[in-house]
Amino acid sequence: MKGKDLLSIADLSSEEIQSLITTATRLKLGQRRPLLEGNILALIFEKPSLRTRVSFDVAMKHLGGDAIYLSQAEVGLGQREPISDVARVLSRYVDGIVARTFSHKSVELLAQHASIPVINGLSDEEHPCQVLSDLLTIYEKKGRLEGLIVAYIGDANNVANSLLLACALMGMDFRIASPKGYGPKEKLLNKARNILVTPDPKEAAKNADVVYTDVWTSMGQEAEAERRRAAFSNYQVDTKLLSLAKKDAIFMHPLPAHHGEEIAEGILESPQSVVFDQAENRLHMQKAILVKLLGGS
Ligand code: CP
Ligand code: NVA
Repeated sequence: MKGKDLLSIADLSSEEIQSLITTATRLKLGQRRPLLEGNILALIFEKPSLRTRVSFDVAMKHLGGDAIYLSQAEVGLGQREPISDVARVLSRYVDGIVARTFSHKSVELLAQHASIPVINGLSDEEHPCQVLSDLLTIYEKKGRLEGLIVAYIGDANNVANSLLLACALMGMDFRIASPKGYGPKEKLLNKARNILVTPDPKEAAKNADVVYTDVWTSMGQEAEAERRRAAFSNYQVDTKLLSLAKKDAIFMHPLPAHHGEEIAEGILESPQSVVFDQAENRLHMQKAILVKLLGGS
């Protein structure tokens, strides 16, 4: 995988995903190894971040390298200068780029013009790093991926898109419950396998192994927040909905969460919730991604 970009889950094969999970598991056991000594990662963020920014920065430091955080105010991606120029200049200084952009086109343009790996740290279309670490969490909790039923309740957003693609690749059933007009786009559905699209959260949650949700209003959609709150009011994950899933089902959320909107108060603290293990695994999976794309080992 050395030199590859990671813009979408579709950039990976099931074997590559399995190998990332194995590497992340190994790195989780031996936290600090200088596998990327002397390597520098640029972090270009157009939107806020806690987990993605900190986990990539810490991952580089644990691996013997370092990271440079660049906000949109500093870089002016596509504003102060063209994305193609940013990509070509950074390629002369650093060994890899993580970019969090509003438009997916921006990460694609960066990748097209950079001669170093470009990693999508969340765009409007996908959040592959989140979902790869989610697969690690599911694998740890369930001991397998194939054949599991993942029920996603809510907005068919960037996280849901990556989850849909990952489930198709890893032989998992994917169910998504969204209100009319907020379901998965046609081009994603064409890539899905074993998928159920329903407006009914109960139908999706029934007998599931994993119940997953994310915010109703993603970053960049703040102007639609009120309309979305109304559209999604019957899509909150609460203990009643969770009780329809398998007895040993796990509850997942990428965070940040809007308590009282997509999740009922107390759900993060419920025995079924694995959200903080999920957040921790961002660090271990970021390391695996970096070691594979930058180091090649
Ligand atoms: N889950 C996630 O990507 O969190 P941040 O937005 O804080 O990076
Ligand atoms: N769908 C959310 C995920 C945040 C990690 C957003 O894009 O804001």
